[in-house]
Amino acid sequence: CGIIGIASNKKDKSLTDVLVSSLSRLEYRGYDSVGVASLDDEGIDVRKAKGKVVEVVKTKKINEMSGYIFLGHTRWATHGAPNDQNAHPHVDCSGRIAVVHNGTLNNYKELREELESLGHKFRSDTDTEVIPHLVEEFMKRDMESFEAFKAAVSSLRGSYAILMIMEGEKRIFFARLDNPLVIGLGEDKNFIASEYAPFLPLTNTVVTIQDGEIGFITPSSVYIEKDGKIVDVNERVHKLNFTLASASKGGYSHFMLKEIHDSPLAVKETLSTMMADDSVDKAVKVMSQANRIFVVAAGTSYHAGLIFGRELNMSGFTVIPMIASEYPSYRTRAGDVILALSQSGETLDVKMAIKEFKNEGSTIISITNVIESTISRESDVKLYMRAGPELGVAATKTFVSQVASLLLLKSKILGEKLDYLSHAHEVLEASLEGTEGQMKKWSSTLISAPSMYYLSKGVGLPMALEGALKIKEVAYVHAESYPAGESKHGPIALVSEGFPVVFLDPGIDELKVNIEEMKSRGARIFYVGTSKGISKDEVEVRLEKGLEPFALAPPIQLLAYYVSVGKGLDPDRPRNLAKTVTVE
Ligand code: G6P
Repeated sequence: CGIIGIASNKKDKSLTDVLVSSLSRLEYRGYDSVGVASLDDEGIDVRKAKGKVVEVVKTKKINEMSGYIFLGHTRWATHGAPNDQNAHPHVDCSGRIAVVHNGTLNNYKELREELESLGHKFRSDTDTEVIPHLVEEFMKRDMESFEAFKAAVSSLRGSYAILMIMEGEKRIFFARLDNPLVIGLGEDKNFIASEYAPFLPLTNTVVTIQDGEIGFITPSSVYIEKDGKIVDVNERVHKLNFTLASASKGGYSHFMLKEIHDSPLAVKETLSTMMADDSVDKAVKVMSQANRIFVVAAGTSYHAGLIFGRELNMSGFTVIPMIASEYPSYRTRAGDVILALSQSGETLDVKMAIKEFKNEGSTIISITNVIESTISRESDVKLYMRAGPELGVAATKTFVSQVASLLLLKSKILGEKLDYLSHAHEVLEASLEGTEGQMKKWSSTLISAPSMYYLSKGVGLPMALEGALKIKEVAYVHAESYPAGESKHGPIALVSEGFPVVFLDPGIDELKVNIEEMKSRGARIFYVGTSKGISKDEVEVRLEKGLEPFALAPPIQLLAYYVSVGKGLDPDRPRNLAKTVTVE
């Protein structure tokens, strides 16, 4: 989601123009619904609806609103379907407190039950709505507004960037944990938003807010606290030299690079929300009792499905990963379960396959990244990852989020401990940091390569397939992927002096033989793993048992990205490809 707050000294007509242009710049962060709140001496006015910014601005006459203080929100549904009631801002019972939120609250059900038992009436299905009610409740107990806000925030478990306004208060309260939030210092007014882009045309003087911080902005001041201690705001003020174009990408030159770097957060959010989702246990029960599990997916999602299939097949389950468009080659029977994987939830091949298998009597479980997507709606059990919207055509953060959600399901099915998953985002972070420089270097060689191989074994194989797909998609390099052991049965015939071969080593010693086979034919070896002295082009990653895909994903994605950019291509919009394919 995208959030914006504006606090001004004057009730100025131009403020709504700023608000509307801010919403448009934030729309890429969430485009299922839009809402705003304004505050003046008469109180709070909330206007919100499902739809795009231009539509909602028109139907709700947002341009005609007036006030000193404004909140705005563009939504990417997490809890609760995209509809008018679930659009932000959310208000308390009295309508005197309004809140916008980006993130997910894992304990909202308990909080909501408690608040309902105290007489609070809820109007939406969102997790966010507990916040204004909590503040209202604390204020009933004679707390001052900021104290009540702090008490409410400390009851929340999950992740958040929150903005709150209240009648009679010329300030915007904020809190941040694991979700971005920045302040802009303007003339007679201050701004607070998910990113710099909304206010960059008006000011480049900004104040950074760190995780765990809480405070408020007024039209002329900023107050920040952390763990009860006042933060020296002057130390946080700096001037930006961003352009508007790069600001909307968080300072990165492309969405693809931003989204690769967003992967650790996407995985963390996915795991924490799935762990609190009752539907996960339902899905686990259904799959544990299944005769066979068919995984239906396309493109990158299929590669995530291969990881899931391998893990369960090794434990004696029968899991059949299937390319969705090949569904007519498969038949299901009573007792079979379909696991549909689709980040968009709209891929037609997947939709057609599940329709067919539903008719055959199979139970459909889906994992998508879009609440109430077509595929979710057609499923018996709907599961969601929480990667946030992905704008780059090539799937990156949604791929690792899919893998995370699948590893969680697999471990639950097998009755394994889940502790290891709490390291997933750290492994990603370490790999991003440790491999990016090297991928830039390797890219300079691969820019001129007409063809290459990606080889691996075991859990590394789906990653090699994904590596070859990524570099084909965004850098137009002809790349093929094989099980390393299979490469001697044909593919090696193409290898001559300098032929590039990337080896992904998930910690399998037998790979060394295949590396030698390739080396002796003159292949140029690019090695990702933990061994040393394999090649002059090698990079070390942090391998942890069960989390190997998270160590290998960043280098394959970054390599594709840097080769694409090195060739002067636009990795966000590769030719001939579409983000969501709704044709056969
Ligand atoms: C398209 C995209 C791929 C994606 C595939 C499946 O081909 O270009 O990046 O992996 O669709 O998409 P889905 O939304 O079903 O995961």
